[in-house]
Amino acid sequence: MGINYHEAERLLTLETRSTAYQMKIAPMGILCHQYYGRRIRATDLSYLDRYYDRGFSGPLYEYRRDRTPSLDTLPQEYTSCGVGDYRINSIDVINADGSQCADFRYVGHEIRAGKYAIPGMPSVYDNGGEMETLIVTLQDPVTRLTLRLYYGVLYERDVITRCAELINEGTEPIVLNKAASLCLDLPCGDWDLMHFYGRHCLERQVERSPLPHSIQTISSTRGMTSHHHNCFAILCDHQATEDDGACCGMMLVYSGSHKIEIEQDQMESVRVVMGIHDQQFSWRLEAGASFFTPECILSYSADGLAQLSHNFHDTLRHNVCRGRWKLERRPVLINSWEATYCDFDDQKILRIARQAAALGVELFVLDDGWFGVRDDDNQGLGDWYVNRRKLPDGLAPVIRQINEMGMKFGLWMEPEMVSEDSDLYRAHPDWALTVPGRKPMMGRNQLALDLSRQDVRDYLYGVLSDLLRENHIEYIKWDMNRCISDVFSRLLPSGRQGEVGHRYVLGVYDLLERLTGEFPDILVENCAGGGGRFDAAMLAFSPQIWCSDDTDAVERVRIQYGTSFGYPVSTMGSHVSASPNHQTGRTTPLHTRGIVAMSGTFGYELDPTTLTEAEREEVRRQIADFKRYYWLIQDGRYYRLTDPMKRNDFDAWQFAARDGSEALLNLIVNRTQANAQQFRIRWKGLDPDGFYRIEGEDTLFTGDALMYGGYAFPLMSGDYPAVQLHLVRVEEA
Ligand code: GLA
Repeated sequence: MGINYHEAERLLTLETRSTAYQMKIAPMGILCHQYYGRRIRATDLSYLDRYYDRGFSGPLYEYRRDRTPSLDTLPQEYTSCGVGDYRINSIDVINADGSQCADFRYVGHEIRAGKYAIPGMPSVYDNGGEMETLIVTLQDPVTRLTLRLYYGVLYERDVITRCAELINEGTEPIVLNKAASLCLDLPCGDWDLMHFYGRHCLERQVERSPLPHSIQTISSTRGMTSHHHNCFAILCDHQATEDDGACCGMMLVYSGSHKIEIEQDQMESVRVVMGIHDQQFSWRLEAGASFFTPECILSYSADGLAQLSHNFHDTLRHNVCRGRWKLERRPVLINSWEATYCDFDDQKILRIARQAAALGVELFVLDDGWFGVRDDDNQGLGDWYVNRRKLPDGLAPVIRQINEMGMKFGLWMEPEMVSEDSDLYRAHPDWALTVPGRKPMMGRNQLALDLSRQDVRDYLYGVLSDLLRENHIEYIKWDMNRCISDVFSRLLPSGRQGEVGHRYVLGVYDLLERLTGEFPDILVENCAGGGGRFDAAMLAFSPQIWCSDDTDAVERVRIQYGTSFGYPVSTMGSHVSASPNHQTGRTTPLHTRGIVAMSGTFGYELDPTTLTEAEREEVRRQIADFKRYYWLIQDGRYYRLTDPMKRNDFDAWQFAARDGSEALLNLIVNRTQANAQQFRIRWKGLDPDGFYRIEGEDTLFTGDALMYGGYAFPLMSGDYPAVQLHLVRVEEA
């Protein structure tokens, strides 16, 4: 299948359906990168390597009379450090003698069926017979620091995964100051970098720019994935479009501080290094110990950005998301946050629930405010027992009544955090991440618990599992509302404090693994002040993530657009909220809000008791439509039809069934004008030879006409009108 070794040329080639990746064990045991791109017949691409004498890029000792092969110019699979490659290095070490070198040389490799796993961290998995693994072992001959490079080949999805393991096979401790997951050397070309930046309430905005001759860094030092820079980037041809051109996506499967470095070097070659951020990171590797990096998912498309996104969508949906809800139809929910904030009691909750049930909502989610003393966001975190003033009889009767209305019940929680004003903090102030003798930063007036500690995790597991065991809770919203700072764990010695940030992330995974293992039927939605931890690792525990705290439909078009480059629609938590919107004050039609929220997991976040009869009717229709289109939206192909970053008069996006049998086109007008231009859109993903009708209309279209000639929309008026067209393939009339 996907991995071949050619002994004579010492070539290792990974093949997927449409791509190939080749490395060569070069003389002196240097593991060189040869090629990543469109699939080619297995051939030795080392004819491309021509070595020249480059001034100030010196050769290896073994080549001292031949000045051409230098680590500083060779394309490599993972770099050594301190030995003459002056580009970004994959690793940074301090050896027991104080030297800062590692020089990795090939030792051997093995090819295995199936997919490797990474201890303690989520990664891409094999559903059975889909994947193969290559492990290449290299070693520093002096310290015997061993590097194992893992490659997973997911043939059908054009995906290659990578991670590294560092094993100290020497006798003295070694400190890792940096250990990247990926190093990818690409040849000189005309590359653009696309990355996904933002802030709270404006996550994953797309920026695309040509690579400069310097090192560009996309990173988070916040101890979390962050709203500010997602751990996903794309390198593409300068000319690449949605439908054409070469592009390569790189996604880190990790939820903590991360760093993507991209360097265009002196010879215009490009190196990408990606992994845990090295700021405030160090890991002490005792003799015999091993360290695993998180995984990086790579995909290459020769056919533009849409195909690249489809590769990531399918991989995340089928090979990263886990559990019962990964593919099962998920319930349409109503969330109480924007309806009540922390101000509610059981009667108010039940009134909202009753209205929601009558509209067809299937899951009621009680958000923040139900526990401890929690009248606003200044207190109570950590006290995960019911607030009896608001819910005098506890959760059980509320849940029972909601279940009797025909809805499931879900609950918000923020387990990683603690308020200073809480019983938990008063009992265990040392459980919070703070540095002794210093005042900590107080994001949202709360502190993070030290989840690197087993005792803290055991406590949380005990409290949360009791809560879940004692109540019929079928959904959890797992929130995290501040960045990590003041990183210091009281249980680790001074020489290991650089490990706390990563150990915190491993602790989060451990707690989530235990809880989702014990309660496999609970649907978990991840959240971090909206989409602050929107990453592939979290998707292994929660198949959906609250996309943003900005619920304004117009803003959401851009946020969901950026998110869609890496992440499928089935992962994007998206709700219809009140108008005027609580974050922006903007007024938009309910119809428009419905169309935007439907391009996600779909739900409501408003007080349905305030809706007019006409609005209630509209909500009923939306829910019925969403259920009808559910599989088309969640399982179909997603197509971006416009680029909202360009501030168009309108934006459009589309879903197409994989067999071309139906499609759903969504269009929202951003700027209504008198005597406006025609909005013409070319449909995608149809059967060009098929015949189609738009539901509710008589005209018969051919697939090729809609795809190449397009479709012209009637003029629309009012603020932010939107249209949703359902196209169905029919027999020729
Ligand atoms: C975060 C979430 C919101 C809501 C509040 C509750 O901001 O993103 O959806 O749950 O917390 O405090």
